[in-house]
Amino acid sequence: MVQFQRCWLKNLILQSPYCRGVLPSRESSIPEFAFCLLFGHRRAGYSTTSGILGVRERTLVAVKPDGVQRRLVGQITQRFEQKGFKLVGLKMLQAPEEQLSQHYHELRRKPFYPSLLHYMTSGPIVVMVWEGYNVVRTSRIMIGDTNPVEAQAGTVRGDFSIHISRNVVHASDSVEGAQREIQLWFHRKELMDWDCCDHSSTYQI
Ligand code: TYD
Repeated sequence: MVQFQRCWLKNLILQSPYCRGVLPSRESSIPEFAFCLLFGHRRAGYSTTSGILGVRERTLVAVKPDGVQRRLVGQITQRFEQKGFKLVGLKMLQAPEEQLSQHYHELRRKPFYPSLLHYMTSGPIVVMVWEGYNVVRTSRIMIGDTNPVEAQAGTVRGDFSIHISRNVVHASDSVEGAQREIQLWFHRKELMDWDCCDHSSTYQI
């Protein structure tokens, strides 16, 4: 039944001239939009406050042990706040090796994997969840290239790091990856749903 509704809504949306200017061109956004019509705005990342699709996208950002040791937590956090993103989760912890091995699961066969785990468990980290329009992609741009040698000045890694093995910060590299990482590092009740008072200065209502 849901499948039929989705299909019907997709066709309806694609044929509607009204929607052509409203929806992002990405084909993958259609099910999300149809889903939000079927099951409600908040569930599908569609803000009832702003009416902008994707405004509730979330990503995981972590200040790594070198960033914490060098007292860069404030400056890194400030960049995301200044940009206009909304902080919805924050905590400091000594990362358990088991959790890190899940986090870096895809890199487990890389030669640098053992030293990466050793470094990531060498001291506390600060994990955060940021929310906002296009936050996953924008955060990756803000932190810069994995290798600080390639990272542009003005990015976190470009400004605060020299070597790939100590690149200060992590940010999820895809929407799916962000969802997985947020679930890995945060319990649901640790994430705050709150309304920013300057929302209309950040988004068109
Ligand atoms: P990766 O997921 O490829 O990059 P990113 O953090 O930009 O998503 O790699 C994870 C971390 O592994 C990276 O931030 C630093 C470390 N790393 C090394 O130490 N040496 C390397 O050659 C690479 C590619 C990564």
